[in-house]
Amino acid sequence: MLKGVVLGVALTIIVGLTGGYLLLHSGLIPANADAKPGGLETWMAGTSLDATLDRYAPRVQNPVALNDQNLLKGVRLFAENCAVCHGSAKGADSPSPIAKGEYPRPPQLATDGVEDDTEGESFWKIKHGIRLTGMPSFGYTLKDEQIWTLALFLKHMDKLPPQVKQVWQQVRNWPVTSLDQTEQK
Ligand code: HEC
Repeated sequence: MLKGVVLGVALTIIVGLTGGYLLLHSGLIPANADAKPGGLETWMAGTSLDATLDRYAPRVQNPVALNDQNLLKGVRLFAENCAVCHGSAKGADSPSPIAKGEYPRPPQLATDGVEDDTEGESFWKIKHGIRLTGMPSFGYTLKDEQIWTLALFLKHMDKLPPQVKQVWQQVRNWPVTSLDQTEQK
């Protein structure tokens, strides 16, 4: 009796694994990026990301002080590293061709901002990236202080002081560089 149960369980596992393997090789699981992520995929990715953030995102206060100078630094860092995917002050009205083609699509932050998230959560996402999405890890290229400066800007993006807002409104998300600009340099 016990032998039969063990054999049944083993067979079920083998059939399941073989079926999964064959399905992966069948070409029936979509690999294209020109689609909208489905409900199950979005739920799984979101749940895993939230749990990771609960566990690992720093809970400390942003070490970079809130002032105009640091917000301006944040705008500059964002223009150089993020605007191509996350947009300009125009938000969802003018996403770049890269942003339009990503799967999942990067939120255009001037429209769908992250002001409600803690700065520690934004810090974690920027430093480590988000697996299997276009969101890169900037831990290889930016210092922690620069990442906190970006988190500061994201937190205050919808309530910038006038002087900073003016500079933010000049940021372009596309084209990244035009030939004219290169020639002038
Ligand atoms: C190549 C495109 C790309 C670049 C460049 C990029 N991101 Fe992202 N980012 C994404 C994508 C795609 C997502 C959505 C991931 C998901 O759905 O979980 C994302 C998600 C995020 C989120 C979470 C948004 C939310 O609603 O929870 C933050 C914050 C973020 N990025 C900040 C940045 C910052 C700051 C930079 C620049 C230092 C940056 N990203 C550069 C593609 C990019």
